[in-house]
Amino acid sequence: MSSGPGLRAGASLPDAKARELSLQRYRIRAAGYDDTCGPTWPIRERTVAAMHLQPGQCVLDVGCGTGLSLGLLRAAVGATGRIYAFDQSPEMLELARARVAREGWSNVVLLHAPAHEVHLPERVDALFFHYTHDILRSVPAIDAMLACARPGAAVAIAGVKYFPWWLAPLNPWVYLKNRDYNGAPGGLRSPWDLIAPRLEHWRMTPVQFGMGYIGTGRAPASDTITSGTIARQ
Ligand SMILES: C[S@@+](CC[C@H](N)C(=O)[O-])C[C@H]1O[C@@H](n2cnc3c(N)ncnc32)[C@H](O)[C@@H]1O
Repeated sequence: MSSGPGLRAGASLPDAKARELSLQRYRIRAAGYDDTCGPTWPIRERTVAAMHLQPGQCVLDVGCGTGLSLGLLRAAVGATGRIYAFDQSPEMLELARARVAREGWSNVVLLHAPAHEVHLPERVDALFFHYTHDILRSVPAIDAMLACARPGAAVAIAGVKYFPWWLAPLNPWVYLKNRDYNGAPGGLRSPWDLIAPRLEHWRMTPVQFGMGYIGTGRAPASDTITSGTIARQ
């Protein structure tokens, strides 16, 4: 679909820098990535469950990485459903491709693209963001994701955030941990604050003693494109 994830004219400079840093980080991390995900597996399961996917539905796995969520998503939408999944990191996506080939999943479409360039042939019933902090910190990326969703689509987001005030001395550690995986590691007080105002029924539940969150909401019931953003009607 995309011709490649390099830096492009049109993306804002902070976004381009963040994406370049992220590409560098996952070039190094891809091979060992899956081994680091055991502790957050229950969060992955809860976030998939929060979308209440039905057999036959269509879901977008945003920044799918090595495709660790694809099995859960496929179990939820069944063989008649469709899963689109994209990532800008060639190394991460290659592992997702190998997983899909190994499992013989014919209803999973993998795309090599940065979020702000993703276009799908249909609008999806659900958007799934699992530990995709950089994408949530980019307005053009959020615009593109919401443009992929049908009105009223389910949205579920999981990620890292700062601990509440009584554990705040641990937050420098949270920042450094997040920096290892992201090109735009700031915004940890409320990582959802660029997307949540654009959703309906937003609800955030802290997890991991407040160092993580699961957020849910719905794409607007109707939308219109205004100067590069999707505005609520
Ligand atoms: C922490 S990993 C999460 C991967 C997967 N969602 C999971 O839960 O296992 C973040 C992923 O987001 C991807 N990513 C970061 N910025 C991106 C962007 N602007 N467009 C597409 N993918 C991006 C990275 O390449 C990486 O694979």
